[in-house]
Amino acid sequence: MTSNRVLQLDAVSVDYDKVRVLDGISLTIRPGEVVGVVGESGSGKTTLARTVLGAVAPAAGQVHVAGRDVNRLRGRALRRWRRSGAVQYVFQDPLRSLDPGIPVADSIVEGLKIARIPAAEVARRRAAALEAVGLDEDLVTRLPSGLSGGQRQRAAIARALVVEPRLLVLDEPVSALDAASRDHVVQALIALRDRRGSDLAMLVISHDIGSLAAMSDRLVVLDHGQIVEDGPTRGVIAQPQHPYTQRLIASVPVIHTTSANRP
Ligand SMILES: Nc1ncnc2c1ncn2[C@@H]1O[C@H](COP(=O)(O)OP(=O)(O)O)[C@@H](O)[C@H]1O
Ligand SMILES: [Mg+2]
Repeated sequence: MTSNRVLQLDAVSVDYDKVRVLDGISLTIRPGEVVGVVGESGSGKTTLARTVLGAVAPAAGQVHVAGRDVNRLRGRALRRWRRSGAVQYVFQDPLRSLDPGIPVADSIVEGLKIARIPAAEVARRRAAALEAVGLDEDLVTRLPSGLSGGQRQRAAIARALVVEPRLLVLDEPVSALDAASRDHVVQALIALRDRRGSDLAMLVISHDIGSLAAMSDRLVVLDHGQIVEDGPTRGVIAQPQHPYTQRLIASVPVIHTTSANRP
């Protein structure tokens, strides 16, 4: 385990009721890297995300996040790790992380208040996170019901960002959105990737290879719980090696990658 890996999975397998759902997954993410995981429904994407969070214990293999074996943490070390907020999760449905009864701005900074971060620091981080996702201060004085789906998802991302995580795990962040909102969220994530540099790595999960290609430095293809392809986005799109990836790409009319895709 070296410190230049935000995430390292070594031969991780996960079973549900003795059925193997993830099978020998090895995957690394470097600081600042954006890795897209694509696969069809049931291929194990959400299970992979939950395993990274330490919410699912693997039957075999090891998960290291920022150098820590997340399945070995116990007691005080576990609590300290959770409090550190090193990994933050963004759900498909932003309403899972925004309280319907309070202004969006309050939901965004809720975690910081619980952690007793001083008010001036809370204000600084809130402003930085809102700017990072392109939301106006006056918009977040509203309740979640006063925002569009795309604005809500950007608020949920801001809520994760204020904790200043090393790794952001986004599970189908644009799947529930209409085309225009999807575009706004994808653009916000691309801007985030390009501005945060090596401070923030992202694991972005989707069944839609088109949106993933636009924001990811690397693409990982999951099929029936196994990684069948892992490479730089442009290479995977231009020359997919596995028949499953070839079919995925053939099913999408045009795939755009962005110029900041790093090798
Ligand atoms: N809590 C669970 N108990 C049993 N089986 C599950 C559970 N969660 C998911 N599965 C099964 O594991 C497989 C992978 O699911 P999931 O990780 O949710 O895939 P994806 O996110 O790619 O759609 C599916 O066959 C699903 O039915
Ligand atoms: Mg899923």
